[in-house]
Amino acid sequence: MNFAVLGPGKMGTALTLALMELGHTAIAACARTGGTPASQRFMEATGVPVVPLEAFSDAVRRAEMILLTVPDKAVTPMAQTLADTGWIRGGQLVVHTAGSLSANALGPVMSLGAAALCMHPLQTIARPELGAALFRGIHFTLDGHPNAVAMASDWIHAWGGTPLPMDPEQRPAYHAAAVLASNALVALAAVAAEVSGLPDGLRALLPLLRGAVDNLSALGLPDALTGPIERGDTATIEAHLRALQNNPTALSVYAALGKATADVAFSKGSLTPTARETLRHRFENILGGM
Ligand SMILES: NC(=O)c1ccc[n+]([C@@H]2O[C@H](COP(=O)([O-])OP(=O)(O)OC[C@H]3O[C@@H](n4cnc5c(N)ncnc54)[C@H](OP(=O)(O)O)[C@@H]3O)[C@@H](O)[C@H]2O)c1
Repeated sequence: MNFAVLGPGKMGTALTLALMELGHTAIAACARTGGTPASQRFMEATGVPVVPLEAFSDAVRRAEMILLTVPDKAVTPMAQTLADTGWIRGGQLVVHTAGSLSANALGPVMSLGAAALCMHPLQTIARPELGAALFRGIHFTLDGHPNAVAMASDWIHAWGGTPLPMDPEQRPAYHAAAVLASNALVALAAVAAEVSGLPDGLRALLPLLRGAVDNLSALGLPDALTGPIERGDTATIEAHLRALQNNPTALSVYAALGKATADVAFSKGSLTPTARETLRHRFENILGGM
């Protein structure tokens, strides 16, 4: 399949390489500004030229598929730009990779008869030159035209991943979960490093972070949970709350996650219903008073 790429950033590079590994042909990519480090990296990794929008018409007209790997907020505006150019024709496939948006975000090109697909990898892509290796063992969520979902499922299987068809209405909550599991973990590490008072808090805390992830991988939920809430150690929890009194951000993070931790501890059988409710009320009072 011939394809063109609008947005040769991290995802555009990784997906282009992964599709090329399956024998598909990238014709050209398009960026708003030429010569950026991202465009340079795309060209070096793929050998495919990056051109400005004015020079992109030939590639879009020839392409059977257009990848719209632009930031989420640009997906619909760029679909509209493509529709306005008159380069899109019925029978083409347009793909975006924004986890929070369904394929319907490509409405402007769908109204011209193009098929639409949202294909979101549950992966963080910082080193796109790894190509298909980034997709091995991960889940992709898919929605859009049934033929496109079936075709993308074949690619994902070939990369060693798992395709998961998704109800479009589920996307915002699903994407919130992805943000909690990745970005929120980074923010949590930043708060913990600051609170620790250690000279290089992050480095000191990293083995703990890794250990928690390893426990999740080996034991799953709820068994991976350890710590004072799981032990019902209220004196320790109160000492923590006093220590965080002058750090409102850390206190609110501790209380919000403490509430969720009490639920996990309860499902593990470590807390009685009463102990769980007492802890939940304690944390809710803190959050309500902020
Ligand atoms: N990276 C990840 O870990 C990851 C994971 C899953 C899904 N995604 C999704 O993949 C998509 C792309 O993310 P990314 O991480 O690859 O972003 P990125 O590295 O910042 O690349 C974005 C690309 O879009 C272009 N662009 C930026 N702003 C634009 C705009 N307003 N209009 C048109 N083009 C614009 C950029 O080039 P110019 O600025 O030169 O035009 C660049 O080529 C997003 O929908 C994101 O949610 C990313």
